[in-house]
Amino acid sequence: MGQTFDRIFENAIVVNHDGRAERDIGVANGKIAAIGNLAQSDAGERVNCKGLHILPGVVDTQVHFREPGLEHKEDLQSGSLAAVMGGVTAVFEMPNTNPLTTSEAALADKVARATNRMHCDFAFWVGGTRDNVDDLPELERLPGAAGIKVFMGSSTGDLLIEDDEGVAAVLSKVRRRAAFHSEDEFRLREREHLRIEDDPRSHPVWRDEIAALQCTERLVNIARKCGARIHVLHISTAEEMAFLQAHKDVASVEVTPHHLTLTADDYERLGTLIQMNPPVRDKRHKEGIWQGLDQGIVDVLGSDHAPHTLAEKQKPYPASPSGMTGVQTLVPMMLTHVNAGRLTLERFVDLTSAGPARLFQIAGKGRIAAGYDADFTIVDQGRTETITNEWIASKCSWTPYDGVEVSAWPVGTIIRGRRVMWEGELVGGSAGQAVRFMEGL
Ligand code: DOR
Repeated sequence: MGQTFDRIFENAIVVNHDGRAERDIGVANGKIAAIGNLAQSDAGERVNCKGLHILPGVVDTQVHFREPGLEHKEDLQSGSLAAVMGGVTAVFEMPNTNPLTTSEAALADKVARATNRMHCDFAFWVGGTRDNVDDLPELERLPGAAGIKVFMGSSTGDLLIEDDEGVAAVLSKVRRRAAFHSEDEFRLREREHLRIEDDPRSHPVWRDEIAALQCTERLVNIARKCGARIHVLHISTAEEMAFLQAHKDVASVEVTPHHLTLTADDYERLGTLIQMNPPVRDKRHKEGIWQGLDQGIVDVLGSDHAPHTLAEKQKPYPASPSGMTGVQTLVPMMLTHVNAGRLTLERFVDLTSAGPARLFQIAGKGRIAAGYDADFTIVDQGRTETITNEWIASKCSWTPYDGVEVSAWPVGTIIRGRRVMWEGELVGGSAGQAVRFMEGL
């Protein structure tokens, strides 16, 4: 007599921390109940996954969903719809909304708006400022908090701590791993005159590689002095990658699909659509970032999904805002890189589920193991599709990859045992819940 499950996902190749093998996964009460040959077991539903790979649910640890305050660009519902359409099961959302997520009330408001309304699970980064620095130890442990995020260089919104003293004040308070946007604000101010009207190719000239490297060096030094762990978001230069290799004891590293895919040559074709902070740079940097990924320096992939409307993006540079969509295209773009031999499927799993779980101490997610949440990203590694703007569920309805042919595709998004997306259809109601963290339990 076998066990009885709510649902069995059968005949798939399961890719996990222990490699890949054909296995069935039995799910009960939203959790993984058994892994193995479950042919003899009973289930309410059997989902045939022949020819597909089941990966642990992809966690995108950097998205901007714009609610509250900027809902004309995106909201928690539309952003999370884009996430599940692209195979993403949980997101960590950024604090540069209006109001900023810098207080207990603002965080509680986001959690309330998100619960059972977002399509995927969620956590929210809390912005660190000069004003809330004394409250950070409490704020970073509140339900739904992913940790503290600091902008050292200004980007969309008003969050900024540009000086060493301000960053040290934050790092001497926090206990969890804090995340940083690392571009040197002082250098950015000095170089503003290098922006050329209507020419986004001047964006990486203004926000150059030295601004990124200089800031990351300052940040690591401050972290060492304070005995703190840091997470450096969206690394965009070869030099930072070489530097961070020597500082992995304090620093974890995120890279984005756009810095691994696009180069400065693409400004010609895509203009302000690929204007991003930190910028997309020349090929040498793209190769340096891949090298960092190959060498194990990179810990996680984040999409930095940062939607702006096409009308906003069509303003002449530098009036055009920085940011592009990305949460929905992360899985197909990166799995196409897998098929091209640039990384293994196992490394993809490491970067998108095991990595986030390890760095941020996620409770009960991040691997396919009995007792864990039944979060799966189910993909077809042999399916050719073309990404189009029409497919993009984000409110702003565009992607820099419009017209790009990919060789792999997300077929199913399973969250706590429920089918949420299947074959491009939204099949489950919105039931998003806050991700739990061991440090907040
Ligand atoms: O290009 C960017 N856009 N980089 C950021 O850090 C912020 C983001 C946004 O919120 O638009």
